[in-house]
Amino acid sequence: MTPHRIAVIPGDGIGGEVIAEALRALEAVRPLLGRPVETTTFDWGAERWLRDGTTLPKGAVEDLRANYGAILFGALGDARVPDQVHARDILLGLRFQLDLFVNLRPVRLLDERLTPIKDKTLADIDMMVLRENTEGLYAGVGGNFKRGTPDEIAINEDINTRKGVERIQRAAFELARTRRRKLCMVDKANALVYAHGLWQRVFKELRAEYPDVEAWHLYVDVAAMELVRAPERFDVMVTSNLFGDILTDLGAALVGGLGLAPSGNIHPGRVSLFEPVHGSAPDIAGKGIANPLGAIGSLGMMLEHLGEARAARAIEAAVATVVRARQVTRDLGGSLSTREAGEAVVRALAAA
Ligand code: NAD
Ligand code: IPM
Ligand code: MN
Repeated sequence: MTPHRIAVIPGDGIGGEVIAEALRALEAVRPLLGRPVETTTFDWGAERWLRDGTTLPKGAVEDLRANYGAILFGALGDARVPDQVHARDILLGLRFQLDLFVNLRPVRLLDERLTPIKDKTLADIDMMVLRENTEGLYAGVGGNFKRGTPDEIAINEDINTRKGVERIQRAAFELARTRRRKLCMVDKANALVYAHGLWQRVFKELRAEYPDVEAWHLYVDVAAMELVRAPERFDVMVTSNLFGDILTDLGAALVGGLGLAPSGNIHPGRVSLFEPVHGSAPDIAGKGIANPLGAIGSLGMMLEHLGEARAARAIEAAVATVVRARQVTRDLGGSLSTREAGEAVVRALAAA
């Protein structure tokens, strides 16, 4: 049977530490897979850049598109690289060039003790955030004029295409149909009248197409407040690239912190990239204390994307089991090392 081919990019800092544990979990679910899995590891990241100046190698995007089903990614970010050029070229490069327009970020409470919000149950914090992932303020359109002088002008344009806005909103309506049929679109049309006026107009059109979905909008400032005040209002949320970046770190904090948050950068039906929401965490890198559960949850999302629902459910269940048993790293109130936390997941998989 043709194997699933997985590209593995551990990256910088804790990236390698958490991806090692995700690969251990992948080994453990092999018996549940419908097809064999082959992994190929790529050394893209700060070390490689320091060695030979390579960020995203020539031909890499074509190779990934032609020969791989998915990418498992750790994190990028290293103070030795000026401007983090490697992170932009590799991570944003892959998001854009592979056209991974859905950044899917689940915010799901696994244990009531982990939320800083009082009196919330597991059912109260269970949402999916869809972050537009190929345009907006991340498009890299702009520049500096008179750079380094007192007259400097610095511009980043907010690029919003009709096609880009419609496809992410449509994906959100479709996802809402498979869940509680509630969708909140988050924008800032009161200030960004052109860009987010488009988000509003597209939303009105789609709402008419999906009368079975209860759909409403919030401005992003209120949305941030509501996420903390009443997270139970949300089922599916859709928003722009930058707002989604910010709101999903907030979302991670609602359910136990960045170490636990998984994500997928997805183009349905095509090679897609799965990564924890967190970065390279230089403050804890090399100490063996990083939480591997965000990376392991991302592996679960990757398996789902590959059509391996059984293995995906097993990973989700194992993560929930170790969290509830407090077999976790110190960021979640446990005392395990990264390796021990990974081993606990493997044990939970074996016991299921
Ligand atoms: P960060 O996510 O790396 O860390 C923020 C805080 O969360 C730190 O205190 C860190 O110790 C903690 N943390 C993060 N992941 C953790 C884990 N798995 N277990 C326990 N604690 C964890 O964000 P930052 O410090 O703002 O950024 C560091 C670097 O990472 C920067 O260069 C940034 O650009 C980059 N970054 C990369 C990605 C990515 O590759 N997708 C995402 C975010 C940030
Ligand atoms: C994320 C990160 C990236 C982003 C950075 C590293 C460019 O914060 O994946 O959330 O802003 O998208
Ligand atoms: Mn982020």
